[in-house]
Amino acid sequence: MTTLSPDTTDVEDLTPAAARAELERLAAKLSAANLAYHTLDAPEITDADYDALKRRNTAIEARFPDLKRADSPSDQVGGAVASGFGKVTHRVRMLSLENAFTAAEVTDFDDRIRKFLNHAGPLDYTAEPKIDGLSLSLRYENGRLVQAATRGDGETGENVTANALTMSDIPKVLTGAPIVLEVRGEAYMSHADFAALNERQVLSGEKTFANPRNAAAGSLRQLDASITAARPLRFFAYSWGDLSEPLAATQQGAIQRLAVLGFQVNPETVLCHSPQDLLAHYARIEAQRATLGYDIDGVVYKVNDLALQARLGLRSSTPRWAIAHKFAAELAWTRLLAIDIQVGRTGALSPVARLQPVTVGGVVVSNATLHNEDYIAGRGAKGGPIRNGKDIRVGDWVQVYRAGDVIPKIADVDLTQRPADAQPYVFPHSCPDCGSPALRDEGDAVRRCTGGLICPAQGVERLKHFVSRAAFDIEGLGAKQVEMFFKDPDLPIRTPADIFTLASRDAQNPLKKLKNRDGFGDRSVTNLFAAIEAKRAIPLDRFIFALGIRHIGEQVAALLARHYMTWDQFEAGATTAAPGNPAWAELTAIDGIGDVVAHSLSEAMQNPAERAAIDRLVAELTIQPVAPRMTQGSPVAGLTLVFTGTLEKMSRSEAKARAEAMGAKVAGSVSAKTDLVIAGPGAGSKAKAAEALGIRIIDEDAWLTLAGAT
Ligand code: IVH
Repeated sequence: MTTLSPDTTDVEDLTPAAARAELERLAAKLSAANLAYHTLDAPEITDADYDALKRRNTAIEARFPDLKRADSPSDQVGGAVASGFGKVTHRVRMLSLENAFTAAEVTDFDDRIRKFLNHAGPLDYTAEPKIDGLSLSLRYENGRLVQAATRGDGETGENVTANALTMSDIPKVLTGAPIVLEVRGEAYMSHADFAALNERQVLSGEKTFANPRNAAAGSLRQLDASITAARPLRFFAYSWGDLSEPLAATQQGAIQRLAVLGFQVNPETVLCHSPQDLLAHYARIEAQRATLGYDIDGVVYKVNDLALQARLGLRSSTPRWAIAHKFAAELAWTRLLAIDIQVGRTGALSPVARLQPVTVGGVVVSNATLHNEDYIAGRGAKGGPIRNGKDIRVGDWVQVYRAGDVIPKIADVDLTQRPADAQPYVFPHSCPDCGSPALRDEGDAVRRCTGGLICPAQGVERLKHFVSRAAFDIEGLGAKQVEMFFKDPDLPIRTPADIFTLASRDAQNPLKKLKNRDGFGDRSVTNLFAAIEAKRAIPLDRFIFALGIRHIGEQVAALLARHYMTWDQFEAGATTAAPGNPAWAELTAIDGIGDVVAHSLSEAMQNPAERAAIDRLVAELTIQPVAPRMTQGSPVAGLTLVFTGTLEKMSRSEAKARAEAMGAKVAGSVSAKTDLVIAGPGAGSKAKAAEALGIRIIDEDAWLTLAGAT
């Protein structure tokens, strides 16, 4: 630990230029100190020195308010606090929920479940409010609360045990609970408590919170648990994770058990017997919304029978057995000040509305998406009119809405408020960034820059995606730094591979060292290089997602990784896939992968320029294979299965999902790689092909025994 030499210039004596430089130096020092303390757990300066730096920063900002930096350390309490928590890997992933917005989507949910389960009889669901807070997982061992964690990315969350221990709704000791019990639910703040907290914040000159959800999150994610203790946080239990024994046979039974154990459970939870029942309960809860006393943003429906929940299982991050029926979005009217065009990583030109700031459902909105040129012109996806054909012009009075956390949208325009000189918006036909022609494919609503790898905007966006949280997630290399490095004449980062050669290029360039740049110093450079080094080994699913290939989001990347298991197999499959060949058949047989993804993936992997960039990147990395799931005791782990003919007892989707959960691959056609064919009645050419190849063929009953479903 080093002691810092005190800064000698009195704040009162600083010139504006010196103050600006000093604020920059302090921001870099404090951010390096935060990283060392919170993330690396290796403090490099004393607490007293840290406080002195922070005080000096505050004093300079007070004297020169205009010079306050966008990344001012005084605003970074939240972020800095958050990174100070230890990490917790959830033993059972914390899931999110699929959304439904209409009655038709709810009946569709019921239809899909019935189809998956091949179930025609009665089917019960629970319906309960969707609390607008933040989810927590509470782990009890031998009846004692031993750990509390936030959801994080679902796999890893933050350890907030000390904070949870201060919440009165959370029992610290349970009697009669399973030896291991993880209770999950929502931490939230009531309307009354939120209003009182904001009043106290005003009185003490501290910042107020925009809404109860933010207040709850800000209160829970405090490194100093005594602050959490002083905040009125509540908790509703609605789910569970790791368990040493089942809680009950039904969702409703499990929730009742949690209530008996001493948890608050939502009193508006009911059992419904049909989609009509669900919709009726939804209407009741919506009518009560304003008087419940806490924020809710919809109603959650869950299949009641836990054995059926288990059969339905999960997609990559949401269960098949639950859905959130969201309330209609919140609305507000404001002025459209300008329309900007942003170029995305796949070249899509996206129009963004710049708005006169307006509060929509508790959040200040100043930007909204305008989707695409047809949307602005008043044409819908199929060419017909939307908004009765009204176009949107700069200067218009527009209606903004937002549903949940999604980007705000513009729903409507009031023509009576249109300025006389407003002009129809002309959508650009060339890229605003690189000038390349921007074209629309037949049937595509989006106009795309054709500049590809030469377009700087696409390049920067790809890099931002590459370093984003769900991809490489490199500490200290976020969107802002990527923009800076992209333009750096001496140490540029133009493609992902450049990130991993940054340290060696810096070492070879004695004259223009990174540590001498604005905002960097010895410590922050060391930290950055260490953070980059730490990500040289990367799991396959994250890597595939990071490539930023069109149509390949997190979920699709996870499906691909799980199927191909290693980079070499993925690369071989995607590089050789072409419609009609076996590699294509293998790719499109993966549940959730269709022709659109297959085309996009094979095009990217077969494009020489793209491939060169990918190959250079791969050479820098160790791509970690996917560990096979449930290999222990699973008779089909690692095998390639083909289903053919009609399955009578289990739907095709369930059979496929089950096989994959047991560590098998499911292919669409029989080849020399097939290990086992499950043939139902009516099996034709595939069964014959299997016979010819000497592959083992079993019937549905034998499959059900293998799958442990009998
Ligand atoms: S169930 C697998 N029930 O909504 C089931 N979630 O959008 C996991 N939430 O991450 C969730 N109220 O934080 C469930 N009654 C409720 C809920 C609820 C709020 C949150 C939860 C989840 C998010 C998904």
